[in-house]
Amino acid sequence: MRKPIIAGNWKMNKTKREALDFTQEIKGLIPSTETVDAVVCSPALFLDALVNETEGTDLKIGAQNMYFEESGAFTGETSPEALADIGVSYVVLGHSERRELFGETDESVNQKVHASFKHNLTPIVCVGESLEQKEADETAQVVTEQVEKALNGLTDEQVKKTVIAYEPIWAIGTGKTASADDANDTCAVIREVVKSRFSEDAAQAVRIQYGGSVKPANINELLGKSDIDGALVGGASLDPQSFLQLVEAGNE
Ligand code: 13P
Repeated sequence: MRKPIIAGNWKMNKTKREALDFTQEIKGLIPSTETVDAVVCSPALFLDALVNETEGTDLKIGAQNMYFEESGAFTGETSPEALADIGVSYVVLGHSERRELFGETDESVNQKVHASFKHNLTPIVCVGESLEQKEADETAQVVTEQVEKALNGLTDEQVKKTVIAYEPIWAIGTGKTASADDANDTCAVIREVVKSRFSEDAAQAVRIQYGGSVKPANINELLGKSDIDGALVGGASLDPQSFLQLVEAGNE
């Protein structure tokens, strides 16, 4: 049985004060990490403050991106070593917005995944097809290639700790959710890829989230599916009570 993981991706939203208000309101209400993992992925600017604020609670903090090198002449980038040093637990890698707007490639995602393991950060690796690819019936092919490239060179043990987020690009921020059956079918494809590239054990252990217009009203149906182990949530994670409801759905 895989433990559900509910992660909020705040994207470029909230000020530091708003972020701290959010965590103060809910940090004591989050169910135990023994039954569900609850993660907030905030802008890099206030990761440090949020890690301090949530220390000793069941709410974990994640970054939304990082570079793969530890240090050096990389102006404007965030070091994985520095993220681990301040106590960040997770890092979102290869989000479609980073791929589309900031030139992230499957190769750089793979380098970052390796860097995350080097520094004991749990990667949340995002994959997903565009509307055009969906309409051309290319979803399985697109996510297969993305998953194979992102996980290339990992050990079985590392794959078991990896979180993969299937986020169809056309469902992000649009209010359009993939049907629970379609989302589950693609998550099952991803699990098959892990099985064929790594092992049955790795495929059974890897956690696969769905993302794209997830909200309290639709999360239960998604989490009820065999291959969906959690959710990566944008808009509906910005409100503390809504986030809490999503985490509680993961705890049921
Ligand atoms: P929405 O939940 O706002 O559609 O965003 C999904 C997403 O991109 C999470 O990473």
